[in-house]
Amino acid sequence: MSPAPFVFQPCAFSQPAFSPRVSPEIVNVVILAAGQGKRMRSDLPKVLHPIAGKPMLGHVLDTARQLGAAKICVVHGHGGEQVRAALDAPDLAWAVQEPQLGTGHAVLQALPHLDTAAPTLVLYGDVPLIRAATLRRLLEVATGDTLALLTAHLPNPHGYGRIVRIDGKVTRIVEEKDADDAERAISEINTGILVAPTDKLARWLPQLGNRNAQGEYYLTDIVAMAVAEGIAVATAHPDASWETDGINSKAQLAALERIHQRNIAEILMDAGVTLADPARIDVRGTLTCERDVFIDVGCVFEGEVKVGSGATVSAHCVLKDCSIGAGARIHPFCHIEGASVGAQSLIGPYARLRPGAQLAEDVHVGNFVEVKNSTIAAHSKANHLAYIGDATVGSRVNVGAGTITCNYDGANKHRTVIGDDVFIGSDSQLVAPVTVGRGATLGAGTTLTRDAPPDQLTVSRARQLSVPGWKRPVKKPKS
Ligand code: UD1
Ligand code: CA
Repeated sequence: MSPAPFVFQPCAFSQPAFSPRVSPEIVNVVILAAGQGKRMRSDLPKVLHPIAGKPMLGHVLDTARQLGAAKICVVHGHGGEQVRAALDAPDLAWAVQEPQLGTGHAVLQALPHLDTAAPTLVLYGDVPLIRAATLRRLLEVATGDTLALLTAHLPNPHGYGRIVRIDGKVTRIVEEKDADDAERAISEINTGILVAPTDKLARWLPQLGNRNAQGEYYLTDIVAMAVAEGIAVATAHPDASWETDGINSKAQLAALERIHQRNIAEILMDAGVTLADPARIDVRGTLTCERDVFIDVGCVFEGEVKVGSGATVSAHCVLKDCSIGAGARIHPFCHIEGASVGAQSLIGPYARLRPGAQLAEDVHVGNFVEVKNSTIAAHSKANHLAYIGDATVGSRVNVGAGTITCNYDGANKHRTVIGDDVFIGSDSQLVAPVTVGRGATLGAGTTLTRDAPPDQLTVSRARQLSVPGWKRPVKKPKS
């Protein structure tokens, strides 16, 4: 019996199996994503910039879905159509905020989409690494009419809204720009993520004013409104500070990418994968590894990649939507996409396996060999400088260096069929459609335009000629 593969989901670490769920089916989620993101200096809307190959807003949506949110409303502004086109789904509502008059004004735009009987969780589209477990803890303290704030103590709270408490009880939030020196000295900050009773929210939001340092309608002002009504304000805290880090610049994007990749690396290592350096791996999708897999530095995994037990992926390989069989060795600098590599196979260095390359066990594909839309049966070898496209290659075939399947006539693609136990001499061209019979040998340099019969030597090559007494030409003296 083969060992059960470890299935790695990039988001799985934020979804502990035994976390209690608090009425998850009745939570509204509002994701604020209307900010322009000027500091990204990009034509791409900020929330579409990828973390691990997925738009940062996509990470927030995934987390919202893990909570079992009934309604998810994205508030967008700048580049909204592009954002919607990239991420639209049947479970999403979209609200436009134009112009952007502040976070309170933003949530107000989402109100018509919300179920007033359920609490509303506010998330930010540019805070992509918030974990579902943290949000569940926040939802747990948001029972009844309680307003729940996700707060954190920061050594340098500069720039954030501060949590003002009297006798330990939260009384209001003051923004950095509106705060006095004493308030600025407070280290407990507002992460911006909160849960509010939606019926109350519907009453508070239209009452917000904008007489503050920024002339904005602050969502944070609902805290003082709640306190004035005698409504309890509770707080919860993230486990890690990066959970609530926002992205406003390319530097912050890169920093969170590294944190996210480090988290993925930790999960892989916990599952038994050996990483030469957990700081030098990039997983942009789902990497599933069986036991005793070794991954060297600088590898990129995209889409769905499966690696079988005991396989090695050497330095600087890019693997996308592919499977690597048990015990296979992928030597450095390989590019593998849409392919499957059989057990115990040897690939590379510098091999390219393109979509539809299906290699059985113990196949050797060496340096500067390209394989596309071809099956190669067990124990066959193409070790040097070859192109195998649209071909069916049998078992124990030896494809000599420089062999090319000429699969394209300029208009259509044709197949090459190579039987078991064929030996193809170096620098041969197989002009498809063509079949090489089982056990056939092609002499080096053959241009095969008709089928080669089984068990015979076929060679197409001008006969070798030697001219006795021939002299090299000599340069004429200059006149
Ligand atoms: C906000 C909080 C602050 C908190 C900080 C955490 C308010 C008034 N202040 O400050 O207490 O410490 O976040 O990062 O809420 N957005 C819109 N529409 C708008 C304005 C903002 O959709 O009109 C979105 C942004 O795209 C962003 C989020 O809301 O995703 C927060 O906006 P941002 O400008 O970063 O808030 P801050 O002023 O920094
Ligand atoms: Ca901010």
